[in-house]
Amino acid sequence: MIAGIIRERKAHGQKAVLGLPTGSTPVGIYRELIRLHREEGLDFSNVVTFNLDEYLGLGPDRLQSYRRWMQEHFFNDINIPPENIFIPDGLTPPEKLDEHCREYEAAIQRVGGIDIQLLGIGRNGHIGFNEPFSATNSRTRVATLDPVTRRDAAGDFFGEEGVPMQAITMGLGTIFDARKIVLIALGEHKASIIRETAEGPSTPRVPACYLRQHADATLLVDTAAANKLTAVATPWVLGKIDWTDQLVKQALLWLSEQSGKALLKLDDDDFRQHNLHQLLRHHGPAQSVAHRVFRWMMAGRRSARSSRGVHDQRQHRGLRSRRQTNRRPGERIQPPVRHRRVQIQRPGRARGPVVGKEGPGR
Ligand code: F6R
Repeated sequence: MIAGIIRERKAHGQKAVLGLPTGSTPVGIYRELIRLHREEGLDFSNVVTFNLDEYLGLGPDRLQSYRRWMQEHFFNDINIPPENIFIPDGLTPPEKLDEHCREYEAAIQRVGGIDIQLLGIGRNGHIGFNEPFSATNSRTRVATLDPVTRRDAAGDFFGEEGVPMQAITMGLGTIFDARKIVLIALGEHKASIIRETAEGPSTPRVPACYLRQHADATLLVDTAAANKLTAVATPWVLGKIDWTDQLVKQALLWLSEQSGKALLKLDDDDFRQHNLHQLLRHHGPAQSVAHRVFRWMMAGRRSARSSRGVHDQRQHRGLRSRRQTNRRPGERIQPPVRHRRVQIQRPGRARGPVVGKEGPGR
């Protein structure tokens, strides 16, 4: 998508303007763009970038500075002209901060606005450093960091006390002006805030939820971050579904938790009271489907136990098993990462998220 915009703009002799985040989320995207540059000649000479934010008080020589992070993770490896890179200056003296922020906004305007804004999301719903209760029309400014943000950054600063209290950030209004926005969330620790962002009420407590009002905003999540979305956690409440064995099991475990009853004690009324009529109709009555799920779970436990046995035996024969699998000692096979694409809903559309096709990650 990003490469497409860069190429398309270049073909028309125009600049491509990217809004960029730092953090763990975009690392893979930057890596892929670097690969496209090296292997497929993706040209960044017509690209202009605006970073979302920078810690106040940190210069580029500091380990945690976002300017330094961007150089090391992206800019040093592509052919972007240095004068096309814009990042708020964390060392701006206090008396010049207002002017610096105004100038940042003016620089965005001068190049005709941001074509595509990439975003990560904090566990508290922040985008950039627009913390809970930021004004939706805010522009680039100095913002005080939320305690959750400071706690999450503590690892980078060798303790929470070392985390700056403030940062310069693009405002929510600045972000919403971008023509296209892509919010990316990876990992289980983002699952709750992704649910609130995509499906919760519009509230200033979760700044990212206002993205639902943007004309072209997309949410990209991996399987772990999608876990609590209705379409994944309880798809049966959204309408008719194909009842795979996995979904039947998921529904029964959910029903048992909702009703506070053991699996084998569930009755037809529990199914009806929790919108599981379709499951009852196709796989009921309650007792028979509950027994089926119970048997699968028992069988699953037995096979997990026996494959643990095999694993233990392999451990004893460590050298042989490693040579066979060509893995380093202790290294585990990672499951393939899969992403979901969720079109962020705009007001007036049907309720519930629209989850697109799952496909291989970037
Ligand atoms: C960073 C930024 C932040 C991060 C967010 C998620 O420039 O603007 O809003 O995108 O805190 O951080 P990660 O990706 O590290 O989970």
